[in-house]
Amino acid sequence: MSSLGPVASELQLPERIIIITDTNVKPLYALQIHSGLVHYGFRPDIITIPAGERYKTLEVVREVYDQLNELRCGRDVAIVAVGGGVVGDLAGFVAATYYRGVPFVQAPTTLLAQVDSSVGGKVGVNVPYGKNLIGAFYQPRFVFIDTKTLTTLPKRELRSGMAEVIKYGAILDENFFETIIDTFDTLLSPDVNAFTDIIERCCALKASVVEQDERESGYREILNFGHTVGHALETLTQYSVFTHGEAITYGMMAEAHISVNHCGLPQEDARRLCSLLVRLSPPKIPESIDEEQVFEAMFTDKKVRSGSLRLTLINKIGDATFGETPDEHHIKQSIRKLFTDEKDLCGY
Ligand SMILES: NC(=O)c1ccc[n+]([C@@H]2O[C@H](COP(=O)([O-])OP(=O)(O)OC[C@H]3O[C@@H](n4cnc5c(N)ncnc54)[C@H](O)[C@@H]3O)[C@@H](O)[C@H]2O)c1
Ligand SMILES: [Zn+2]
Repeated sequence: MSSLGPVASELQLPERIIIITDTNVKPLYALQIHSGLVHYGFRPDIITIPAGERYKTLEVVREVYDQLNELRCGRDVAIVAVGGGVVGDLAGFVAATYYRGVPFVQAPTTLLAQVDSSVGGKVGVNVPYGKNLIGAFYQPRFVFIDTKTLTTLPKRELRSGMAEVIKYGAILDENFFETIIDTFDTLLSPDVNAFTDIIERCCALKASVVEQDERESGYREILNFGHTVGHALETLTQYSVFTHGEAITYGMMAEAHISVNHCGLPQEDARRLCSLLVRLSPPKIPESIDEEQVFEAMFTDKKVRSGSLRLTLINKIGDATFGETPDEHHIKQSIRKLFTDEKDLCGY
């Protein structure tokens, strides 16, 4: 992580740098990056936000603006996000809006952030009526990925990131999907080197989508597979039961079932996908929630247009379709399956 200094120097970041990080990542990596930047002649400071999805809010953004002001930062500052997707999304939103935009760098430290959130330029925060509803498209100057940071990542967070990895295979690349199945056990072992190729492949797949449709006017929506049901679960449980990856694990299971009914996904493909997802062992969905509530919560999603749900579904593994409007009955039937026994989740 200390090697961010030479890259920042080579790419001529401004001398004044604010590292935004969270309470967990600060002692692990942000202090190291801070010293590395000092060594290369930069003037860095650190702003620390509390760790966790529930702090990805406008209130915390406001506190960060105030601290930037107290640190006498003007438009000549650069912001470096050091942390997971929460830090990256929030710091990126601050960078996009402080003085109408200052240079921004992503240094993601979770698998999820390395394969997904740090790439593509979506930044933003949650509001009580929905997830990521306030935000911007704001590309980082560069993304600095050091896979060694995964050595300290809790296994639960590693599995959470694996959900997004599986998503890329499911929507874009069947060969990659097979590679994930073949290497699944190695990936969850302590040898983080196994991730290098996987991360590279995911970043390339995501970049290929974003290049074609940066502002999500259509094609980029395929990246939302599993996210309509997933976001509903996250919102309903106030981000306190599931990690993002766990919620979209269930989301992809439900949306695979919908795909079978609505766009002819072969049952064998749905079975292959769901049995891989089950291996991520997401926590059980609380009994206080039922399929009607999940269905209602899906309407807070950004993809809703003129009151109707628009989903990304898959025709087969490696081939997605977006803007689908399955009927209510099929959606609820598929959500209901999430509440059955684990072995039935992939039951075809
Ligand atoms: N912008 C996008 O395109 C995009 C895409 C996908 C997800 N997201 C967002 O990303 C967020 C989820 O990101 P996340 O899963 O990284 O969550 P996170 O940022 O909350 O990180 C998970 C936990 O791991 C800790 N942590 C981070 N790095 C660590 C390390 N190396 N070692 C030990 N602990 C570490 C964090 O402090 C936190 O407690 C969600 O808010 C989601 O909406 C955004
Ligand atoms: Zn996601």
